[in-house]
Amino acid sequence: MATNRTFTMIKPDAVESGYIGGILKMINDAGFRIVAMKYTKLSAEIAGKFYEVHKDRPFYGELVQYMSSGPIVAVILEKENAMSDFRILIGATDPTKADEGTIRKIYAKSIAANAVHGSDSDENAEIEGAFFFSQLERF
Ligand code: CDP
Ligand code: MG
Repeated sequence: MATNRTFTMIKPDAVESGYIGGILKMINDAGFRIVAMKYTKLSAEIAGKFYEVHKDRPFYGELVQYMSSGPIVAVILEKENAMSDFRILIGATDPTKADEGTIRKIYAKSIAANAVHGSDSDENAEIEGAFFFSQLERF
């Protein structure tokens, strides 16, 4: 598979708990290269736009509230099979169901406050990366 890219966020619970360094170390140790990175805070409006695909799901309101509750770190990552390998590295959405050694198993607090985002397709990885970064910010 050609080298490609995925998009992640370190979510407010993990930033607040001081896990940025630990999570980035796991990402680097798994062979991902950082292409772009930004420490920022989402407004409810921006978080709502980012998660618009989930707008009809019951947890949408809480998700938007939570994702705008504190700073996040947005990152574009590069690796062979980036999207699928990163989903394996982060583990299941619900940390009680995540495999041992995954980022969510180690760092997530709950199904909502689950430490990290990971894109679910190459197409969404491109869309989500572009949501946060211009071409000039990626290298
Ligand atoms: O993040 P992932 O792709 O694993 O899960 P998702 O189904 O795309 O859901 C997006 C996010 O919504 C999750 O990461 C959770 O933060 C939140 N969520 C939730 O609060 N309650 C659920 N039952 C499912 C998801
Ligand atoms: Mg998802």
